[in-house]
Amino acid sequence: MRPILGIESSCDETAAAVLDGEGTILAEAVLSQEREHAPYGGVVPEIAARAHLAHLPGLVRAVLARAGLGFDGLGGVAATGGPGLIGGLIVGSLLGKGIALARGLPYVAVNHLEAHALTARLPGLVEGGAAFPYLLLLVSGGHCQCVKVAGVGAYTRLGGTLDDAVGEAFDKVGKLLGLGWPGGPALERLAAQGDPARFAFPRPMLGRPGCDFSFSGLKTAVAQAVARHGPGALSAAMAADMAAGFQRAVVEVMADRAAHAMAMVPGAKLLVVAGGVAANGAIRAALAAAAAARGVRLVAPPVRLCTDNAVMVAWAGIERLRLGLTDGLDFAPRPRWPLEELASAAA
Ligand code: KG4
Ligand code: ZN
Repeated sequence: MRPILGIESSCDETAAAVLDGEGTILAEAVLSQEREHAPYGGVVPEIAARAHLAHLPGLVRAVLARAGLGFDGLGGVAATGGPGLIGGLIVGSLLGKGIALARGLPYVAVNHLEAHALTARLPGLVEGGAAFPYLLLLVSGGHCQCVKVAGVGAYTRLGGTLDDAVGEAFDKVGKLLGLGWPGGPALERLAAQGDPARFAFPRPMLGRPGCDFSFSGLKTAVAQAVARHGPGALSAAMAADMAAGFQRAVVEVMADRAAHAMAMVPGAKLLVVAGGVAANGAIRAALAAAAAARGVRLVAPPVRLCTDNAVMVAWAGIERLRLGLTDGLDFAPRPRWPLEELASAAA
């Protein structure tokens, strides 16, 4: 197979990548829009769409040049078709379709969640390869779900959040503690200096059957603790103890939920954690321990492949193209696109 161009524009990362037919990365680039959105404390959809429009065409040209290819050297185009923010999805999908149409290339509308799910199968990432079935814990600012990955297009959602995504909880608690946005990395650093036992925050869903999550009660508990110690700024020590207490609660919940997921799919020998929150050292360590206790291997792809990127989109495109699965140029981007709605490759 000739090289595949991948395009990602579903949220606040503008990304493009070129992979050869085997999945080797020839060139990749990610432009974060963090600076554009930071003043608003979160992603503003209209700003995101305009930023994708401004940067994506140049980024695509740049990765092709770095890969030493022109459009004629491509064998297909894969662009995220959903789920995500509709403006960005339209920008990326139309660019991908335009290139495919102009050069007569196959086009794949990639489900962003499937792209996260299949990342572990990139050549060389998991020793011995990531054979189906495996478990995926997808934890970021926008996603929080646990999925059984049985094959390309064959996914079962084992559970997900009932309210906030875990990264969203980190961001909201970060804001309460006076940290910038996104709050996750700063909160992890602050937590390292605090006493996790000082505040007894709740552990939502701990021990419950299944694999659902809930974080809004925990977030509210931190808000109440902050209010109790106000008004005025918290002392640095108090903020660190709250950060540590919050993170400890999240870690315990995540390990418990992962244990339940592993019990639900006894055949899975691999637990893949992806999404920005997978960068958290305490969470990774707790998941690794929970997995090891069940003879399961935890795989955390390098952070640049677990946060939003176009390598995973190109790779999902390759997996689909290998199975002869392509999409028509009439594909309409889908803001909501649950994994279960993907046509199974086996069907
Ligand atoms: O995957 P990602 O870059 O974008 C999406 O949300 O799709 O994930 C970003 C999220 C943010 O909520 C951020 O606060 C969180 O991941 N995050 C972390 C850490 N690094 C990033 N959360 C906890 N600990 C971290 N070290
Ligand atoms: Zn994502």
